[in-house]
Amino acid sequence: MTKVLVAFATRFGSTREIASAIARELNTAGFDAIATEATSSIDATNYDALVIGSPIYGRKWLATAGLFATINSERISGRPVALFSVGTLGVKNQPAAKQEHEDFVGDLREVAPKLNVVSDDVFNGYFERANLPWYLRLIDRFAPTPEGDHRDWQAIESWAKSLVHKFR
Ligand SMILES: Cc1cc2nc3c(=O)[nH]c(=O)nc-3n(C[C@H](O)[C@H](O)[C@H](O)COP(=O)(O)O)c2cc1C
Repeated sequence: MTKVLVAFATRFGSTREIASAIARELNTAGFDAIATEATSSIDATNYDALVIGSPIYGRKWLATAGLFATINSERISGRPVALFSVGTLGVKNQPAAKQEHEDFVGDLREVAPKLNVVSDDVFNGYFERANLPWYLRLIDRFAPTPEGDHRDWQAIESWAKSLVHKFR
């Protein structure tokens, strides 16, 4: 059975739930998938395919997810990898969110050229103004992001389904 690791980083939990939904969808399709936080203790070579995801903070992934992808890129060389970002820029400006995601994925591919990226996408996340540091709250006042859960579960599930033939 194809073993898939869905490795994620998160600060407030919304990316964990997205990673779990992706693993659930892959399991439904007959894979042996688990979602777990990206850490250095994981042996990525135990898996046939990987999904790696992170929320975007300040236009970048969280360091743990980026490091996980970079460090393992040599070890898992050749195995299919799918990448996803989570952010709230897309709630009001989808093209800007896509660009932000593509910029990060481009940077990641430069530092980890052996990553065999077969798919990548960006999803809207969860926004709570209280999580912003005070100086960002001031900036957010001028073009406020709508608060709440903006995750599109259908989009997430259909992306997970699209990975099935890429991982087989
Ligand atoms: C301080 C801060 C900075 C953020 N920066 C970005 C950003 O640059 N681009 C973006 O699309 N979303 C940004 N977000 C939104 C988060 O990516 C979003 O809330 C995400 O769902 C958080 O995921 P998590 O719950 O897994 O930590 C930011 C949120 C906070 C609190």
